[in-house]
Amino acid sequence: MDKRVFDEALASLPPALHAAKPFAALLLGSGWNQAAAGLRIECEVPYSDIAGFGAATVVGHAGRLLLARTKRGGQVLVFCGRRHWYEGCEWEQVVMPAVLAHRLGAPVFLVTNAAGGIRASLQPGDMVILRDHLRLSPLTPLRGPHDPEFGPRFPDQSRVYDPALVELLRAAGARQGLGLTDGVYVLSCGPAYETPAEIRAYGILGADVVGMSTVPEAMVASACGMRVAGVSFVSNMAAGVTGKLLDGDDVVDCAARHAGRLSRLVLDFLDLLEG
Ligand code: HPA
Repeated sequence: MDKRVFDEALASLPPALHAAKPFAALLLGSGWNQAAAGLRIECEVPYSDIAGFGAATVVGHAGRLLLARTKRGGQVLVFCGRRHWYEGCEWEQVVMPAVLAHRLGAPVFLVTNAAGGIRASLQPGDMVILRDHLRLSPLTPLRGPHDPEFGPRFPDQSRVYDPALVELLRAAGARQGLGLTDGVYVLSCGPAYETPAEIRAYGILGADVVGMSTVPEAMVASACGMRVAGVSFVSNMAAGVTGKLLDGDDVVDCAARHAGRLSRLVLDFLDLLEG
C-alpha cells in the first residue's frame, strides 16, 4: 500500500478530527447506518471530501465520516459505509477507515456488515458475532513492501477478533434479550454472489456466514494494533441454502426492517465498552 494516500487523507480532515480522543471507531456496513442516529454528531465529513478516499458507490453505504459523542460523553469515530475491492478501487480505499481510525487514536475498531447465512440454523435478521474468518483467496492489503505501521512482516492471525470484545458483543445482545451466536465469516470477492457449490464448500470448511468485505479491514486494523470486533447481520440465506434466488434489493429491504435492532446492538456495545 502507498502510505502517501493515508498521509494525504489525514491531512485533508478538519481540525476537530485531529483534536478528537475517540475510545472506539465503528465501520457501519449495509443495514447498520442507523446506529449513527443514536449518537450526538459533532462533525461530519463526506468521504468525497477526504483526499484519496472517493465517494461510496454501493446502495446502503452512506459514505460519510462522523465524529460523535455517546450518551455517556465519550467520542467515537463512525465510518458510515465502505469501499469494496469489487468496486475496482485500490486497497488504500478499502482499508482507509481502519488506517484513519488507527492514526486518529481509536484503540477499538468495530466492523459490521450484511452477510449471507450458510449455517442452516441461521435465519435472515439474525446477528452473528465474528469469532474468526476465512480468507480463501490470495487477496490481501498487506501484500507489498513491509511497513511496520502494519505490524510485523508476518502478522499473527490467531486473534484477529479480540475474545474479550466477542464477550462484550454477547453481553450487548443479552441486553436486548438475544442469545447471540458467534461464527466464522468467509470472504467472497464479489460482486457476483456465490454458487450453491461454493456455499456447500465454505460450509464444509467451517464458515457460518459469507460476505464481500470486512476481512481486509479487520486484518489491517488488527495489524495496526487495534482491538477488533466484528458482527454480521444475516440479510439472506446464502445461495442454495433455501433454493431462493439472491437479489441485492432483498438485502437492503431486510436490513431496513431490522435497522432498529442493529443500531441498539452497536449502541449497547459502546455503552458497555465505555462503562
Ligand atoms: N453473499 C455475499 N455477500 C453478501 C451476501 C451473500 O449471500 N448477503 C449479503 N452480502
